[in-house]
Amino acid sequence: MTFAHITGWGMSVPETILTNDDLSKMVETSDEWIRDRTGIRERRIVGDGQTTASLAVEASLKALQGANLHPTDIDLIICSTSTPEHIFPATACLVQDSIGATKAGAFDLLAACSGFIYAVNMAAQSIRSGAIQNALVIGSETLSRFVNWKDRSTCILFGDGAGAFVLQASDMPGGVLSAVMHSDGSGGDTLILQGGGSKHPATEATVLEGKHYIEMDGNEVFRFATRVMAQATRETLEMAGIELDDVQWIIPHQANIRIIAAAARGLKMPMERFVVNLDRYGNTSTASIPIATVEAAADGRLKPGDRIVLVGFGAGLTWGALAAEWTGPLPTERKVYPRRYRAWARIRSFLLRITRVIEGLIWGRGS
Ligand code: UT7
Repeated sequence: MTFAHITGWGMSVPETILTNDDLSKMVETSDEWIRDRTGIRERRIVGDGQTTASLAVEASLKALQGANLHPTDIDLIICSTSTPEHIFPATACLVQDSIGATKAGAFDLLAACSGFIYAVNMAAQSIRSGAIQNALVIGSETLSRFVNWKDRSTCILFGDGAGAFVLQASDMPGGVLSAVMHSDGSGGDTLILQGGGSKHPATEATVLEGKHYIEMDGNEVFRFATRVMAQATRETLEMAGIELDDVQWIIPHQANIRIIAAAARGLKMPMERFVVNLDRYGNTSTASIPIATVEAAADGRLKPGDRIVLVGFGAGLTWGALAAEWTGPLPTERKVYPRRYRAWARIRSFLLRITRVIEGLIWGRGS
């Protein structure tokens, strides 16, 4: 029997910090209100030249390094994002090219803040079925590029960042144990970005109407979130055949400390068993769960053999949970340096582009 283990992890956040005090100079708000109503103190914001793909690449290289895998070992790349580099091509393909993952299939997955759970589940299923051996799963967002900085009900919440996991096949029991995924499209308009899609293609009018910004009914999303977090956690644990007492860490979507506290109450679990870092990063949507996981692993909270539950909710509406046994890198003799592949990947990408131009000259365009 094949199991899908989480063997590598990495994160990348921009250096620029936007504090609540900074925000209070932009909109009518205060550090006190934001901390009190959300738990957020500051968030990271991308600078010039940083994009969803560039954050994803950084997080991916760290995850590959941790797992001791070459980019060329990866069979599948799934990038979960609601703020992709472009509508198409997929951001996952840009990552594939950038890191030199020559044999990987690559696609984006959009399930908003629940996306990372969906993506890890998809990768784990592919591994367990025997179809692939190694997968790279990324959650990456640049929400600051889609936020209306004049709307105090949304701009205080969101931040930018990326996290990535490497998943590997092994016959050692453990890894991803179960997952549940849910959706309710009737709530789609409670959290939406309307502009630039096929219903509202970009025009001067859509830009003037502010349709290219995130719109949210915060109270509605809050009520929905507090209802589903505990419920999804229980469902996935039941599927895995694990008791809540056997779980060391719950790693929730980092949207609002009050939502996490409600989940803790619903599960009758102390807050100390929830990984929380939203005070420093705000809500980074699909990147929030992997970033919180990476920090918990880095500071030694997460140990091999620990049982964890990832649980999240978001636009769609979507929600889900995933139970796993934390593994760490699989034993291997080799030491790899995925970053060294980047120069080679750049040359390869350049040569492929040149080849395409030469082929176009030889065969003629459109013939
Ligand atoms: O990944 C999923 C993404 N979304 C979420 O997770 C959002 C879930 N919802 C929430 O986190 C909360 O609903 C918010 C943080 C968005 C809002 O908090 P709230 O405690 O539900 O506030 P509210 O919307 O009920 O507003 C209360 C008051 C209002 O004033 P009045 O009408 O009582 O005079 C708002 O206008 O607070 C006002 N307000 C603010 N005041 C200062 C709203 N935003 C702000 C602000 N600063 N930034």
